[in-house]
Amino acid sequence: MAEYVVEFGKDGRPVEPDGRLDAPAFHRNHQAIWPVLQQFLAGKSGDVVEAGSGTGQHVVEFARHSPEIVWWPSDLNEQHLRSIAAWRAHVGLANIRPPLRIDLSDPAWCPEMHDGSGPDQLLAVFCANVIHIAPWRVAEGLFAGAGHYLRPDGRLFLYGPFKRGGKHTALSNAVFDSSLRDNDPDWGVRDVEALEELAANAGLKLIEIAGMPANNLILVFARSKRS
Ligand SMILES: C[S@@+](CC[C@H](N)C(=O)[O-])C[C@H]1O[C@@H](n2cnc3c(N)ncnc32)[C@H](O)[C@@H]1O
Repeated sequence: MAEYVVEFGKDGRPVEPDGRLDAPAFHRNHQAIWPVLQQFLAGKSGDVVEAGSGTGQHVVEFARHSPEIVWWPSDLNEQHLRSIAAWRAHVGLANIRPPLRIDLSDPAWCPEMHDGSGPDQLLAVFCANVIHIAPWRVAEGLFAGAGHYLRPDGRLFLYGPFKRGGKHTALSNAVFDSSLRDNDPDWGVRDVEALEELAANAGLKLIEIAGMPANNLILVFARSKRS
């Protein structure tokens, strides 16, 4: 199995004694991401899962802005789950639930929804910088699960670098893509059109593309028809 550890502590702040990790990219991107989420989340209540939370810093930041929304961070990696739990304890916000252990390569990635210990049908799924640092089956599972778990009015937000029409949108993304593939041939910057196909199979459609700093995008998916 591929090793998913991203050594956040390495180029960010040192790992805190309680296990909190710091991702330098978080400090560069959260202010641009939040307004796109807020546009949809403002005035709503409900459950939002963050898939592949990593350090847990995004959930902490976004939960601060949206006390009426219940945030469910998640990850697969033990060190990251510890970091998320530590950030949650550090900020003490009532609307952040303990991290869920979610493996997105399983299309039924949120069994807790059905046994009553997890969220209700989801208002949103937010997933940043995951599907290019993982095999394609992780993207497949993410979409299949989102199609299953989202509320009729729910949204899937995907943040990261993406190709459009099979082409990189910037040289820096092309360089990044080849470094990902050198590390693991199953990883790589994904194509928006290929993701639209996964979305269609899951009953979702791409409704918005928001430009982000550093040649990143947010892709917003909604149900293709009300169910
Ligand atoms: C580059 S980090 C991004 C973390 C965070 N979303 C951010 O933007 O800072 C990728 C994350 O995806 C997680 N991940 C990789 N494969 C996964 C899988 N199959 N299921 C769930 N999470 C996964 C890793 O453990 C890691 O925390």
